Amino acid sequence: MFRVNENYLKLPGSYLFSTIGKKVNAYAAAHPEETVIRLGIGDVTQPLPPAVIAALHRAVDEMGNAATFHGYAPDLGYEFLRKAIAENDFQARGCKIDVDEIFVSDGAKSDSANIQEIFAADSRIAVCDPVYPVYVDSNVMAGRTGIYDAATETWSDVIYMPCTAENGFVPELPKERPDMIYLCFPNNPTGETLTKAQLQEWVDYANREGCVIIFDAAYEAYISQEDIPHSIYECEGARTCAIELRSFSKNAGFTGLRLAYTVVPKDLKDENGVSLNALWARRHGTKYNGAPYIVQRAGEAVYTPEGQAQIREMVGRYMKNASYILNGLKEAGYEVYGGVNSPYVWLKTPDQMTSWEFFDYLLEKAHVVGTPGSGFGPSGEHYFRLTAFGTYENTVQAVDRIKAL
Ligand code: MLT
Repeated sequence: MFRVNENYLKLPGSYLFSTIGKKVNAYAAAHPEETVIRLGIGDVTQPLPPAVIAALHRAVDEMGNAATFHGYAPDLGYEFLRKAIAENDFQARGCKIDVDEIFVSDGAKSDSANIQEIFAADSRIAVCDPVYPVYVDSNVMAGRTGIYDAATETWSDVIYMPCTAENGFVPELPKERPDMIYLCFPNNPTGETLTKAQLQEWVDYANREGCVIIFDAAYEAYISQEDIPHSIYECEGARTCAIELRSFSKNAGFTGLRLAYTVVPKDLKDENGVSLNALWARRHGTKYNGAPYIVQRAGEAVYTPEGQAQIREMVGRYMKNASYILNGLKEAGYEVYGGVNSPYVWLKTPDQMTSWEFFDYLLEKAHVVGTPGSGFGPSGEHYFRLTAFGTYENTVQAVDRIKAL
């Protein structure tokens, strides 16, 4: 009889956002009279920018014409998009990133889950705590995380780096040496971020200790303050120690369209001099047939002057929501973080409630859905996340309901 990959059986329960979805759907079905406002999963609500829609229409028309039809996309991405990315997201910021270091994909979630495949099976990982659950889950699936302790919700082989109010939600350098370090800034879930000097310390550490940093910059479009790095390649030496993940989901509203990319510099090599760029290209070649032509044309449109203006406006709308949540909760006496360089607001639960107790309380009393902090890791206990990706009307109503509790 066949057997399944037992690593999958080690995963606790269901994926965080699936658990929340099930709970909320059950509540909504039992209480059809209530209007539930969902500020849990970080999914966008604004429609796609007009420049993107126009590019999609043009590309669809090309696909219906024998002279301009496109079959399989190049597995690493079309040159027109890779070039626009390299020029706008990196070279314009003074980061030396070339077109052949950009790997286009259909999502940063899958990139962040898949990237671990190119590292040795016994690699040790370090993650911020709280953490986007995909980083740990994907390493569990690869059998890399040792034994699960249900009491603390931690894995024996994972180095958890607590990010708390005490350290300003910036992790300290690990005492034991990891092989792979996952960093996400602006952070999901805390919404806090680090300065360029703080990120430089991580780059220096990784180069000194021979570690690789997997830097998730999915929320970089939300940075509003000076001195916050938009890319890890703004730091000196990052080309020899860092991979960067980017997404079109949060900056341009592509959650339902799917487009992202990963940067793997050619200078990034393992202890035997093996190039990670070549390995990741090899993996794409075998496992991936490229993001759709029409979607890559839509991505290219994001970099046009109109596209840039339209996505800035979209980000501005979500940040208006973030300010409303931040200020409203402060007025109501909550301890709140994030929401300045990020679409996430991280709040301390009142009266020592656990994260899940507060989740149930908010759902039942205010009919508002958020994300329990403990779902992101042990240091997330007694915290709660609200997203600014709702509509303005829903955001105002949700905050007003919370204030009225
Ligand atoms: C979140 O809510 O943390 C994100 O939306 C999840 C994701 O981007 O996959």
